[in-house]
Amino acid sequence: MEKRDMLYEGKAKKVFKTDDPDLYVIEYKDDATAFNGQKRDQIAGKGELNNKISALFFELLRSKGLESHYVKRLSDREQLVRRVTIIPLEVVVRNIAAGSLAKRLGWEEGRELPRPVVEFYYKSDELGDPLINESHIAVLGVATPEQLDDITTQALKINEILTAYLRARNILLVDFKLEFGLDAEGRVLLADEISPDTCRFWDATTREKLDKDRFRRDLGGVEEAYEEVLHRLGGQ
Ligand code: C5P
Repeated sequence: MEKRDMLYEGKAKKVFKTDDPDLYVIEYKDDATAFNGQKRDQIAGKGELNNKISALFFELLRSKGLESHYVKRLSDREQLVRRVTIIPLEVVVRNIAAGSLAKRLGWEEGRELPRPVVEFYYKSDELGDPLINESHIAVLGVATPEQLDDITTQALKINEILTAYLRARNILLVDFKLEFGLDAEGRVLLADEISPDTCRFWDATTREKLDKDRFRRDLGGVEEAYEEVLHRLGGQ
């Protein structure tokens, strides 16, 4: 497999073609952005940490029968993935009130939700990724009702697997964002990444934040927190 031209550069990752049309290489960058790109910085080592953490999560999900675009980790910063067409939805699953949900419902951060909440945001930088519902999704035509059911079932299953796995490592999975794509056969496949950039992880004892909120809220110690997550997952 040979890495070829860059296809796309996003805020945190680059995507490259390979000599196989069904496989892409994803390179994780050190760039950090928040608030729709208004806050930007470089965090040394972040790309490497997120690549390793994300690979471990995709491998865990695979071991539980949940496939994703992930094929294998190639290097410190690179993953080999299957080509999918990304569905323009950010699928957020929440277990504990935090961030925008705490604001929207007026619940204090840290209040446990009686059941997981699944939300959909329309991926659009121009619109600022608005919260949308099933009717909006049908009108926009971004996913069929069957695809949306499939996405929701997979998201809740992923939540169950990750919550249990992290709880055993003294980490609370507060909430997280997933993206899905369609493969050549039209199957809905988990894509993008699962990392401290896209999840809220709290130490279960101290409730210390071990995720991107350290960057968003200027708490410092971003790299150290990501390192701690990788360490607790058994990586180095
Ligand atoms: O900001 P909010 O509370 O809606 O974020 C919910 C979850 O989704 C958080 O874990 C956050 O890291 C993640 N998220 C993301 N990318 C976005 C928006 C939210 O990874 N564009």
